[in-house]
Amino acid sequence: MLIRNMYRAPQFYVCMALLAALPLAAQEIPAGRGGRGGGATREFLGLGPAPDPVAAARGEKVYASNCAFCHGANARGAEAPNLIRSPLVLHDEKGESIAAAIAKGFPDKGMPAFPNIAASDARDIAQFLHLQVELVANRGVYKRLNVLTGDAKAGEAYFNGAGGCNACHSASGDLAHIASKYPQPDQLQNRLVWPGGPPVPQKVTVTLPSGQTVSGTLKRIDDINISMYDASGVFHSWLREGLKVEIPDRLAAHRQLLDKYTDADMHNLTAYLATLK
Ligand code: HEC
Ligand code: HEC
Repeated sequence: MLIRNMYRAPQFYVCMALLAALPLAAQEIPAGRGGRGGGATREFLGLGPAPDPVAAARGEKVYASNCAFCHGANARGAEAPNLIRSPLVLHDEKGESIAAAIAKGFPDKGMPAFPNIAASDARDIAQFLHLQVELVANRGVYKRLNVLTGDAKAGEAYFNGAGGCNACHSASGDLAHIASKYPQPDQLQNRLVWPGGPPVPQKVTVTLPSGQTVSGTLKRIDDINISMYDASGVFHSWLREGLKVEIPDRLAAHRQLLDKYTDADMHNLTAYLATLK
């Protein structure tokens, strides 16, 4: 609980606001230059040293096979919280807090311990997560500066057309008063980029070796066991070996959109959503 409550701590939001507001000058990172020039800003934000892109690339592989299942492929959250907005990740400097989280897990909250992940792998994962923070912060800067320069009409057309937003949302339904809910345009835009939100009960379908399927609500999952409540509330627990487990990711569409829309689409959408008072 303590950790989750930190999401609501005012200093955390101040930190995120700074992240969104300040240029981190890290454009060089993806090209492998290790964020030269961003050092002073990173220090100011308390973000620690710039991530090492080579270690991050190694870390991504370990992350993909151990963590992505719950935290999402790019750490923006799935069944488990978004790690890019995680206070623990933001306050970690050299991987020390992240390594401890990996080694001990949060067993009472649904994250297993990973005693088999070597310390060097854990440091690489930390670099991967820091690089994700860096990339997102950068994109945030660009958008924030331009946040209401979009064309609302083009945004509406994208919403109902190429963007396919209307498959899940409606301007007169769930998003009718979105601009009143998030009166600050950058807040609104952040919701669009990272809807996240409190974890909801996760749906799961398990196919047993016999071919029988059981659907219901996930209780917990790790690399060895899975437990769930079926539709009539009956508790089940299995060893995962030989089972097929499907957990639909309700925010998958949003993560895919991140790669799909251009910055212009993003500004147009924000301008459009800002009209939905
Ligand atoms: C079975 C799902 C699952 C897996 C696999 C998993 N986690 Fe987690 N993780 C969680 C949950 C749930 C929480 C939230 C705990 C809480 O509520 O405080 C969490 C929390 C965290 C946090 C703390 C976030 C914060 O600020 O509260 C970090 C860091 C983290 N996980 C990193 C990792 C890494 C790195 C891996 C891979 C080595 C990993 N997790 C694998 C479920 C998982
Ligand atoms: C496949 C379904 C799907 C698609 C497509 C989709 N979204 Fe979402 N969207 C969601 C879900 C699920 C949430 C989370 C709702 C929640 O947390 O209650 C969400 C949340 C949001 C939120 C935050 C709402 C809030 O109240 O905080 C905004 C804004 C948003 N989406 C905008 C868009 C836009 C704009 C597009 C198109 C570019 C889009 N979405 C496409 C499923 C989708």
